[in-house]
Amino acid sequence: MKKKIIIGSVLFIGLSMVSILIWKNQNQSIVNQTVNGSAIVSVSVPNELSVLAQRGEGIFLAKCASCHGINAAGKTEIAPPLVHKIYEPSHHGNESFQRAVAMGVRAHHWPFGNMPKVAGVTRAEVSTIITYVRELQRANGID
Ligand code: HEC
Repeated sequence: MKKKIIIGSVLFIGLSMVSILIWKNQNQSIVNQTVNGSAIVSVSVPNELSVLAQRGEGIFLAKCASCHGINAAGKTEIAPPLVHKIYEPSHHGNESFQRAVAMGVRAHHWPFGNMPKVAGVTRAEVSTIITYVRELQRANGID
C-alpha cells in the first residue's frame, strides 16, 4: 500500500516536472516570435476607414502585412512601418508606393535589406493600399 503511494507520488512529481518544462519551452518560443516581428511603432487606428481604404486594408493584409506588420506598424528585424514620417506624402508620394510594389526597393532607409517586388497586385489595388496607408498616417499626425 505504502509502496503504491510512493510510486504514485514519484510519477506525479515526474509528470509535473515534464509538463512545466514543456510549458516553459512553449513560452520561450512565443517570446522569440514576438521579438522577431513585433510592431516597431504604435499606430492609432482611425474609427472609420473609407470604403476604398477598407479594400486596401484587405489587400495590404494579404500582400504586405507579413513584412510591414498589422496596421503598417512595421516588424522588428523584417520591414519598416509605413505609418512613419519618412513615408509622408511629400517625401514618398503615391508613385513611390506603385514603384515599390512593381519593382521592389533597394534598402536605403533601414537595415532590413531589400524589398522584393510583389507579384499579383494591380496598380488599382496598390491605389487602394495607398488610400489605406494615407488614412492611417493622417490618424497618426503624418500628412
Ligand atoms: C518581403 C518583405 C516585404 C513585403 C512583402 C513588402 N515589403 Fe515593402 N518594404 C520592405 C522593406 C525591407 C522595405 C525598406 C527598404 C529600405 O530600406 O528603405 C520596404 C519599403 C517599402 C516602401 C518604401 C519605398 C521607398 O521608396 O523607400 C513602400 C512604399 C513599401 N515598402 C510598400 C509595400 C507594399 C504596398 C507592399 C505590399 C503590396 C509591400 N511593401 C510588401 C519589405 C517588404
